[in-house]
Amino acid sequence: MGVPATLSELDSLQATMNQALDALREEIKRNELPDLSNYAQEPHPLDDARFVCPSRLYEARRLALATIGQLKSLLQQPYEKVVEQSCAVYDTATLDILVKTGVLDRLADRELTPVEGAHVQDLQKALDLDAMKLTVVLRYLAAQGWLHEPREGVFALTRPALELRQGRNGRKWIMTPGKPKVAQSLLTQITHAEHEWRYSRQADQTAFQLSHASPLTLFQWLKQRPAELTQWASSVQSLGDAYHSAIMNDIPWRRFDGCTFVDCGGGQGNLSIALSEILPNSRFVVQDLPEVMPIARSNIACNAPSGRVIAEPVNFFDVQPLSGKGLIYLLRYILHDWPDHACIAILKNITRVAHPTSRIVIVEVISAPNTMSRQVDEHVTLDDLKDAATHRPITAPAFIPSNFGVTAKMSLALGVHMMGVFNALERSAREWKVLLGKAGLRVVKIHPLRGMVSAIECEPMVLGHGGPANGKESM
Ligand SMILES: C[S@@+](CC[C@H](N)C(=O)[O-])C[C@H]1O[C@@H](n2cnc3c(N)ncnc32)[C@H](O)[C@@H]1O
Repeated sequence: MGVPATLSELDSLQATMNQALDALREEIKRNELPDLSNYAQEPHPLDDARFVCPSRLYEARRLALATIGQLKSLLQQPYEKVVEQSCAVYDTATLDILVKTGVLDRLADRELTPVEGAHVQDLQKALDLDAMKLTVVLRYLAAQGWLHEPREGVFALTRPALELRQGRNGRKWIMTPGKPKVAQSLLTQITHAEHEWRYSRQADQTAFQLSHASPLTLFQWLKQRPAELTQWASSVQSLGDAYHSAIMNDIPWRRFDGCTFVDCGGGQGNLSIALSEILPNSRFVVQDLPEVMPIARSNIACNAPSGRVIAEPVNFFDVQPLSGKGLIYLLRYILHDWPDHACIAILKNITRVAHPTSRIVIVEVISAPNTMSRQVDEHVTLDDLKDAATHRPITAPAFIPSNFGVTAKMSLALGVHMMGVFNALERSAREWKVLLGKAGLRVVKIHPLRGMVSAIECEPMVLGHGGPANGKESM
């Protein structure tokens, strides 16, 4: 069931919204999930990264959110949109204040704060913060759904804010500073007086160097600051954990059980650790820079004591030391950190040693354009996903862009950040295919996931048939 393309934009979006919400409600009922509430005291199952969201429910939610975004643009007064967006830096600043002043922990602590919330005067007394200024900050956050104000001056956490509590992925992410600083130098990066800088693809000619008054790349800079490195690693880990169930369930891993996995730039090793739980006959080698080894090894010792997961220092700009029949090379959130020439160097260091039976699995964002084109190989609707065993994304209906508009904002924002810190980028399916071809890889299958990322499964091209070039690649 689709929306007729002849409807006006408003009628069409309303019809799409109704379809999305009807499907969402049906799926909540069919899967015996609790009702959604902004005021719940506990996260909803849908908020849990380990929850395997039924495909139709996942897509209905995505469609509803995309429609809300399109409706907002349609209806909002443009001048107000300008002011709202230009003030968006305060979104970051106020959320930082909520977490870093201790207000959030206080509101989350049931022994100190009742369910109905805390008065700003009580917060002033407890935290020595000006109640008047706190009200300005908290009301701004309340308008965006982080808090609610049951009585004037009394604030309580909403369900989304529970993600900012200690130990949650949202907390790990928000504690890593630097984005506003990088953002402030982005204009200078793009309009730099020197042509070489303006068109640079180097990781040491970015807003990061400009804003941090340092010639070092982010990774070199972090190497000198172990505390920042640990915090940064934790935020990257949170991103991986956020799509845990999608990565575990939407990629057919089990056919690889018994193979050895090489987790290139594997960080703390969480992907390998999670895979070792579902692949009991496989071994995993987590490779990363020497300075990451202590964090990786202690994480592995705690969470994968079986001995099937090990960590070893390997620079991915050197030729891959491990090769052999059926080895699976994993690269999760690696290539989006690097410009094309560096990605080709990293991948060629694998393809030049990889056995033809090896697979290279790349987990990354595939960024769809914002076009309204609906020329697709297969038209998929919400109705097609009833009881679907495998996940398929639906086709964007009329007046919804192919990247589902605002639902792509998180990955597009990360793309802007990657450009600001590495001169790197998120790539479209077409750009991925070209890049991988240059590195001597053929795409076997793209697995769409119930999350921001996809998995691109590749195999090495046969040497002599457009295969990888010989000779050591380096930066
Ligand atoms: C964005 S993190 C991704 C970590 C991990 N793959 C994951 O999904 O959680 C990028 C990783 O690449 C590692 N890295 C950066 N430069 C590297 C290099 N030259 N050789 C090996 N690893 C490197 C970093 O230390 C970091 O752990």
